Amino acid sequence: MLNTAVKAARRAGSIITRASQDLGALTVRNKKHNDYVSEVDHAAEQAIIETLLEAYPNHAILGEESGASENNSDYLWIIDPLDGTTNFLHGFPQYCVSIALQHRGVLEQAVIYDPNRNDLYTATKGRGAFLNDRRIRVGKRTKLQECLIGTGLPFRDFTHIDTYLGMFKDMMQKTSGLRRPGSAALDLAYVASGWYDGFWEIGLSKWDIAAGALLVQEAGGLVADFEGNESWLETGNIVAGNPRIFSQLVQVLSPHLTPELKSKAQTKA
Ligand code: IPD
Ligand code: CA
Ligand code: CA
Repeated sequence: MLNTAVKAARRAGSIITRASQDLGALTVRNKKHNDYVSEVDHAAEQAIIETLLEAYPNHAILGEESGASENNSDYLWIIDPLDGTTNFLHGFPQYCVSIALQHRGVLEQAVIYDPNRNDLYTATKGRGAFLNDRRIRVGKRTKLQECLIGTGLPFRDFTHIDTYLGMFKDMMQKTSGLRRPGSAALDLAYVASGWYDGFWEIGLSKWDIAAGALLVQEAGGLVADFEGNESWLETGNIVAGNPRIFSQLVQVLSPHLTPELKSKAQTKA
């Protein structure tokens, strides 16, 4: 199953790379304020779905662009065909393909492919995480002050802008630096690789985080919602980090949580 996902991710990567060579020729549609989608997102998702269903015709699909398939299956593929669309459309080389497989609600396989660097991140539950066949592990830093931390900046939905500003202000002063490269899936892959020691973002979608979260867990890291609980995949409110600084991250975020961002209040459509 992992091999099939890798094949699908590489096919999508070729479509994306070909299109990146002539961005001016793309048809781009504005879904909502600042929410753009191109024909590349759709073509990449189609290629992924075709590859997966060719091997596993009865599996279910949840894709960012095509939504949820109607069949019931114990297996669900969660797909972001192009994570970092805004970057892609500007020619900023930070985007990826993200594919995860859930079996009876448990994440079992993950593939993230970065076509700009030709980097392939993979993980299988219980078998570790890899970057191009080399085992990866989360960072070992123990002091938050020495850590590089990834995050997101709101650009489509500004509901949580004040919460974010408070979190940034605190986190900037308590860490070695913050980064916002613009692809949540790659951000999580960087936590798994130990390049960041932590990452947090509010309100992501399942396809942004499913594969990256399994990578982090299989690389020895922790993933939770802002109160350290399990609702992260449902709510998209996610903190990930190496186990030595994880609780320090949660502590910094905690005073900024609005009732909506607390675990018990969390359910997202
Ligand atoms: C976006 C990226 C970005 C995050 C956004 C996501 P998309 O995904 O992951 O880093 O901040 O919230 O929606 O739309 O480019 O697939
Ligand atoms: Ca995404
Ligand atoms: Ca996307």
